[in-house]
Amino acid sequence: MTPVRFVCIGALLALATLHTTAGAQTTGLDLAKSKNCLSCHQVDAKRVGPSYVRVAERYEGDPEAEARIIASIRKGSFRKWGAIPMPAQNAVSDEEARQLAQWILTLKPGKR
Ligand code: HEC
Repeated sequence: MTPVRFVCIGALLALATLHTTAGAQTTGLDLAKSKNCLSCHQVDAKRVGPSYVRVAERYEGDPEAEARIIASIRKGSFRKWGAIPMPAQNAVSDEEARQLAQWILTLKPGKR
């Protein structure tokens, strides 16, 4: 069993290294996937939470949009969209929240 495990770990490490090398191109979508946002959100359809396209629509033209979305991700969001609250996403750093917010705000309908 042990050698097999070793091979698996080796493969994982290799993948992880590859991923880091490609880090510069990490997209908002990749980040959202890796932070489990997509277990409650979809880009263009409502799930537990609003679709990100709807979020982008709602904040269009709001100069505070990025800051508001960062705050919602970091601290959670309540009663802006419906009865279900979003818990604070503690595994997301300020920098990651900023990246996610910027990505979400690029998701205008038909502009994907
Ligand atoms: C447990 C389910 C769940 C997870 C996980 C989750 N969300 Fe949410 N999200 C929600 C719900 C529900 C709402 C609507 C909350 C409300 O009505 O204010 C929401 C709202 C939002 C909004 C809109 C906030 C606003 O101010 O209008 C954004 C942006 C968002 N989520 C991004 C994310 C990101 C990015 C992640 C991953 C880091 C994430 N969510 C993870 C359930 C979730």
